[in-house]
Amino acid sequence: MSQITVTGGKPLKGRVDLKGAKNLVTKAMVAALLGETPSVLKDVPRISDVEVVSGLLRLHGVVIDFTDDGVMHLDPTNVKSARMVDIDAHAGSSRIPILFCGPLLHQLGEAFIPGLGGCHIGDRPVDYHFEVLRNFGAKIEELPNGTRLTAPKGLKGAKISLPYPSVGATEQVLLTAVKATGKTELSGAAIEPEIMDLIAILQKMGAIISVDADRVIRIEGVKTLNGYSHRALFDRNEAASWAAAALATEGDIFVGGARQQEMTTFLNVFRKVGGAFQIEDDGIRFWHPGGQLNSVVIETDVHPGFMTDWQQPLVVALTQANGFSIIHETVYEQRFGFTDALKDMGAQIQIYSECLGGTSCRFGQRNYNHSAVISGPTKLTGADIRVPDLRGGFSHMVAALAAEGVSNVTNVQLISRGYENFLQKLADLGADFTYTE
Ligand code: EPU
Repeated sequence: MSQITVTGGKPLKGRVDLKGAKNLVTKAMVAALLGETPSVLKDVPRISDVEVVSGLLRLHGVVIDFTDDGVMHLDPTNVKSARMVDIDAHAGSSRIPILFCGPLLHQLGEAFIPGLGGCHIGDRPVDYHFEVLRNFGAKIEELPNGTRLTAPKGLKGAKISLPYPSVGATEQVLLTAVKATGKTELSGAAIEPEIMDLIAILQKMGAIISVDADRVIRIEGVKTLNGYSHRALFDRNEAASWAAAALATEGDIFVGGARQQEMTTFLNVFRKVGGAFQIEDDGIRFWHPGGQLNSVVIETDVHPGFMTDWQQPLVVALTQANGFSIIHETVYEQRFGFTDALKDMGAQIQIYSECLGGTSCRFGQRNYNHSAVISGPTKLTGADIRVPDLRGGFSHMVAALAAEGVSNVTNVQLISRGYENFLQKLADLGADFTYTE
């Protein structure tokens, strides 16, 4: 198991460059399955989620060529059914396989989806996904090692309403409706920038999709789609992670490729906490301007709210802010597990099951520990840490880099699920660490 020994207390300074968003690129790769001709996706990061999706696509006959400059060619002209046993080998490695359902049903009339993986930040059920697919006419059969889907009468457009604006379920509808017969109306849709970018890709392929006010998306099914050529939207989560790292370590990081528009909500909070930023044409510079940081009250939410993926790295910076900060996590019910390690390092964080923000959320009456109160500033000291999940793991690394003394961080490879060249970037920013494979 990989381990990093970090000597903390040194500000991170320098430049990192972003590639495309993990949470768009992987879906864009699945969309390529729907085309009659090859697709080209640019700015693809070398992260393990991309490897997992490449593996599954190859199993289904897609020919993939991924060059060193981040350009991926995906040729789906010979899509074929894969052997269950081969697909099953990918069980538990990612959540993206669930999005293969619609495209495979369209291209092959059947799909087999292995058990899903992803970060352990709550139950992460897929009930909305299956309900959506049933609405389109899919038949779903649970098997011991996964789920088999068929569409004996083809897939037909449907009127669908999501109980919660789920990112994945919205993508499921899009990837299925574009080639379903007739019209689909989705209300209660998620409208994250990554979803808008997926819609742009599908439109390039020949789809007809409109996004109305109030989270309503309308899709008119078409018979054939072609390949696309697209430069992926930058990774907002990675941008926010490095911004928080600059603040927590009293550093100064230029994040190449970050854009203001998709990060407005984050930038407002960053400014309120006392961080400084400067928007440039080719990226955003984030730095700690000196002096005290301020405590804040944040509720995570679906877009255009404060993203759940931004809270973990920011919590580390908030341990250095003056006073009590409150974070009410309303997207995932168990996303504060990572704070245990921060407490071991000296942070003062209390977790509550009550909704401590301004609104009551769906977790409030269900005993989920989903609100955090962070009291600061507190000195952090080095500790032994095991990375629990992607974003929590990044936070632990930032805490170790901000802490006084030495930290041993294990299970570091989990961070490469979502951060390309993570260790190289840390080294470029002047971090003091050694890595043991
Ligand atoms: N939900 C259900 N049933 C479903 C689907 C979702 O109850 O069938 C619930 C979830 O349990 C959760 C909420 O709805 O409480 C929102 O989940 P959503 O479907 O929106 O999340 P997702 O599509 O599984 C994506 C990102 C996450 C990101 C969320 C929210 C990918 C691969 N993952 O997950 O990213 O936090 O949207 O923006 O796109 C990460 O990058 O670290 C990460 C976890």
